[in-house]
Amino acid sequence: MNILVTGGCGFIGSHTVVELENAGHEVIVLDNLSNSSKKSLDRVAQITGKTCKFYEADILDRDALNKIFDTEKIDAVIHFAGLKAVGESVRKPWEYYNNNITGTLTLVDVMRQHGVKSIIFSSSATVYGEPAFIPITEECPKAPCTNPYGWTKSMLEQILMDIQKADPEWNVVILRYFNPIGAHKSGLIGENPNGIPNNLMPYITQVAVGKLKELGIFGNDYDTPDGTGVRDYIHVVDLADGHVKALKMIEQNAGLKVYNLGTGKGYSVLDIVKNFEEANGIKIPYVIKERRAGDIAENYSDATKAKEELGWVAQYDIKDMCADSWNWQKNNPNGYDE
Ligand code: NAD
Ligand code: WQD
Repeated sequence: MNILVTGGCGFIGSHTVVELENAGHEVIVLDNLSNSSKKSLDRVAQITGKTCKFYEADILDRDALNKIFDTEKIDAVIHFAGLKAVGESVRKPWEYYNNNITGTLTLVDVMRQHGVKSIIFSSSATVYGEPAFIPITEECPKAPCTNPYGWTKSMLEQILMDIQKADPEWNVVILRYFNPIGAHKSGLIGENPNGIPNNLMPYITQVAVGKLKELGIFGNDYDTPDGTGVRDYIHVVDLADGHVKALKMIEQNAGLKVYNLGTGKGYSVLDIVKNFEEANGIKIPYVIKERRAGDIAENYSDATKAKEELGWVAQYDIKDMCADSWNWQKNNPNGYDE
């Protein structure tokens, strides 16, 4: 298929471009480079031996989108483009709602005007809020979010569902990611956060590489086996493969589909530190800090539905995730910057 990947220069997008190209799809990337580097696509080309088309464009720019859809033959869109920093979204709610929601509304409008009615959307386990039950199945009710970023995902799911309901020619596949970490085995592409990382694994790798002194663990008094927060970490290459598998639902004109993409296993912050140390032979100094506002104790998926319907099962374990995150960071201490 010919796939337009919005946000294709980013962390998950670049890994998905690799898996799409390896599976024989033609890829066109659109990205405004607000949180990424075009160098990621040069690295993708090094891995796959193929060069994809690239448009530096914004999903808010209707004219630019029209030009792309007029020029390219596009069968489906995989839509990663969006702002994703939870804390920043609390400080800049307008920017998050505008970029993520207005941007997606503009994209979807241009899509339908060009007769392209298939989209795979990057959603998040954040839509479950404080989950009603664990492991979290897709039947778990959505809950209030604790920040504007989360609300953009929750609202966009609703918007896409309503659009599909009103016009059943649409195929909408909503993928709810748990916690993506890891990097491509080559160490050529990976996560490249701006400034001090908010997320656990990039923080740990920056401690390991000597850029940060020690990890702060946000609370050790949760109701979990060791008191630290439990999450379902998933290797980004597995996540990328989930998108390739989800295209099957578009080929089958399946209408609306919602899947969790997680491993179904929960690991605590201390488990991650221990596994990172064992996988890489590096000590990670840490201190226990206050709980972080908005954090929940525990969150992991039931991944049965994606297995049964997409034939997708995560292949990589926590040691692979820790080893691959480190392999990327140590080879690229400054990310894509020289
Ligand atoms: P990322 O920031 O690395 O990638 C997002 C990309 O979108 C970036 O390259 C950025 O430049 C681009 N972008 C942002 N706004 C744009 C706009 N208006 N027009 C064009 N391009 C734009 O983030 P990621 O981790 O790869 O996440 C990809 C998607 O998955 C996002 O929608 C994110 O919300 C979602 N998601 C991420 C996680 C996670 O933990 N990484 C978890 C769940 C869901
Ligand atoms: C994981 C665990 C922290 C950093 C976020 C978003 C979510 C989704 C994925 C996009 C928690 C602890 C972290 C640190 C720590 N993104 N931690 N010290 O919060 O589960 O999810 O990213 O959709 O929406 O909220 O991920 O990596 O920030 O935290 O102790 O320096 O690590 O408290 O228990 P989180 P995370």
